[in-house]
Amino acid sequence: MTTPDAGRRLEEAAALTSGASFWTTKEADGAASFWLTDGPHGIRKQVASPDHLGLAASEPATCFPPAVGLAQSWDPELASEVGAALGREAQAHGVGVLLGPGVNIKRDPRGGRSFEYFSEDPVLTGTLAAAWVRGVQGEGVGTSLKHFAGNEAEHDRMRASSDVEQRPLREIYLRAFQRVVEDAQPWTVMAAYNKVNGVYATEDRSLLTDVLRGEWGFDGVVVSDWGAVADRVAAVAAGLDLQMPGPDPGGDAGLVTAVEEGGLPAASLQRAGRTVAELAAKVAAGRRPGVAFDADAHHELARQVAARCVVLLENDPVDGSALLPLAPDASVAVIGEFAELPRYQGGGSSHVNPTRLDVPLEELRARHGGPVASTRGFTTDGSGDPDALRAEAVEAARAADVAVLFIGLAEEQESEGFDREDIELPADQVALVREVAAVQPRTVLVLSHGGVVRLAPVVDLVPAIVDGALIGQGGGAALADVLVGAVNPSGKLAETVPQRLQDVPAYLDFPSEFSAHRYSEGVHVGHRWYDARGIDVTFPFGHGLSYTTFDVTDLHLGASDDGITATVTVANTGARAGREVVQFYVGVPGSAVRRPLRELKGFAAVVLEPGESRRVSALLRRADLAYWHPKAQRWVLEPGEYEVSAGVSSRDLRATALVGVIGDGFRPPITGESTLDEVLADPEARASILPLLASAGEALGMDVAQTMGSIPVGRLSAFGGGRDGAAPPAAAPGTAAS
Ligand code: BGC
Repeated sequence: MTTPDAGRRLEEAAALTSGASFWTTKEADGAASFWLTDGPHGIRKQVASPDHLGLAASEPATCFPPAVGLAQSWDPELASEVGAALGREAQAHGVGVLLGPGVNIKRDPRGGRSFEYFSEDPVLTGTLAAAWVRGVQGEGVGTSLKHFAGNEAEHDRMRASSDVEQRPLREIYLRAFQRVVEDAQPWTVMAAYNKVNGVYATEDRSLLTDVLRGEWGFDGVVVSDWGAVADRVAAVAAGLDLQMPGPDPGGDAGLVTAVEEGGLPAASLQRAGRTVAELAAKVAAGRRPGVAFDADAHHELARQVAARCVVLLENDPVDGSALLPLAPDASVAVIGEFAELPRYQGGGSSHVNPTRLDVPLEELRARHGGPVASTRGFTTDGSGDPDALRAEAVEAARAADVAVLFIGLAEEQESEGFDREDIELPADQVALVREVAAVQPRTVLVLSHGGVVRLAPVVDLVPAIVDGALIGQGGGAALADVLVGAVNPSGKLAETVPQRLQDVPAYLDFPSEFSAHRYSEGVHVGHRWYDARGIDVTFPFGHGLSYTTFDVTDLHLGASDDGITATVTVANTGARAGREVVQFYVGVPGSAVRRPLRELKGFAAVVLEPGESRRVSALLRRADLAYWHPKAQRWVLEPGEYEVSAGVSSRDLRATALVGVIGDGFRPPITGESTLDEVLADPEARASILPLLASAGEALGMDVAQTMGSIPVGRLSAFGGGRDGAAPPAAAPGTAAS
């Protein structure tokens, strides 16, 4: 194999920049062609007919929890373990690059790919996704960080522009991408279908070249989403390296012609060809021929991971004792189609053909000591008589000690390709819950869904709710383990459950209209929004109960060059071993800019025996404390007091303290166009100008700073000539002319 040649012929370079087939690249410099395959939560290798919608069959592979479930673990080590298992399966299937993780932000719960994305929060998303990438790539298989950027909705996704201002773009939507690139160096980044601020992501030079490569140091391949390239010349010029799917000989030739005619710099085409060749060499070097994976062991891992992703939303006492875990000898009526036909992954390009599938009803029967009866209660395909099904379920619930109701969204109700129009549970299921709960006070709901569902209609009807989101092929066993108490749940919500759709941040601007998504809520996404507006929610971001209880005390903060180290004592105050995830939220009360009241900036988990306590720390990174200054085009770490709260959800904060942070010394440049207020905000300028203002104010009989604060200093002289002819100062000392 020869070294990738920077001076390769243009035709050769151009040929490398499109795939050889739907899923493969071309051979380069002796390095073999390789497969790129979905992803993210399992290997979808289609050997017969290909498609990017998950329609045609694929090889059996372990279906791990999709990102919606995995995120609820708040467990980077586990994400890394899943990544490593996926890397092994990719090796076994001869796959060179696994197309994931998806790190777009859950801006609105109606987004059709909610199940494929991690969270409403960039720090949680970025931390988990970086760990996942390290896991996969540690096995010699590449990843594809997607969908870069602004792919927060499905509606009109191949044309619409995500119109988002610079601060939210940097602080929310690019932040997770940045963290994954900087921490884990994914081998590829996938450019999204949509436009960002009017420019196709595949043609956005500022995103693909200036930010991704220039600022973040990305040195891999930028690959297009499948079919996302509208103009290959513009895409390569902007920084795209590989168009998928291929082949596209006409487009390859067009690139060469564009260079010859001066419409595309030769260096851009050489760069694209070179990075694809380098990737082929990397994939070849990472290849482990003959690797097989142990399907049983991976299924077992899928079960354990799934169990960590389950969130106990509610577990109120009935007659003095909590309903869950189930009393070992209680008779149980299991109701609901999803108990027998589980919902465990989403539809579209990520759809995996699982090696096994745990059925919750069977798993519960295998674990529970008492009798377990079952009845459908409803069907999602409209078969059967709904009244008869419901009546039968009500009778079964009445006859048992406990009813466990598996409800949620059917596969047809959410998928890649379209957004939901609402976040309601199906009406027949809500009616079923109402009727069952009316005859059986000991009713548990078990939820399956990819996007958030509104729980306000059912939350007060039942004492216990277990959130199974979508958690892959081992979900049935995991849910049964939680119900019987073999696993003590420790998952936490990665997305707020609002009371009403009208409360969600993007309510009035979703979906797109006239091919534009207006991100009008700015940086106030998810918990940032609900907290800033004081909106009651059904379950807050970060919420999740346990079969034991925890105290969080003694918050200690230390500021350093790396950020803020926050440490708390966590004590297990209950009767059984358990795991708690402590979350650290940061606000800057005296901030010079409009910031969220508090934002997640770090988290840490601890496993404790009953009565045990431990100190637990997290570094709240300096980079995460900064805000983006859209005029100066840079991050700014403000000096001042930072307020850190330690909690077990965004609304259950147990300790709060302040810590002084030395800023990065940023001072906005002062010009004649700076207002008097802006000049006064600069400590040095303020010291020299205040006495002048005071004397001018005395002469004019007014508070100059207050009255003239918004006047650009270069134009202050236009307002000159007060009583006695005294003029306010024309400009601060040391100011530059604009
Ligand atoms: C999806 C990508 C996926 C690709 C290949 C596209 O429709 O947006 O996430 O990797 O298809 O299947």
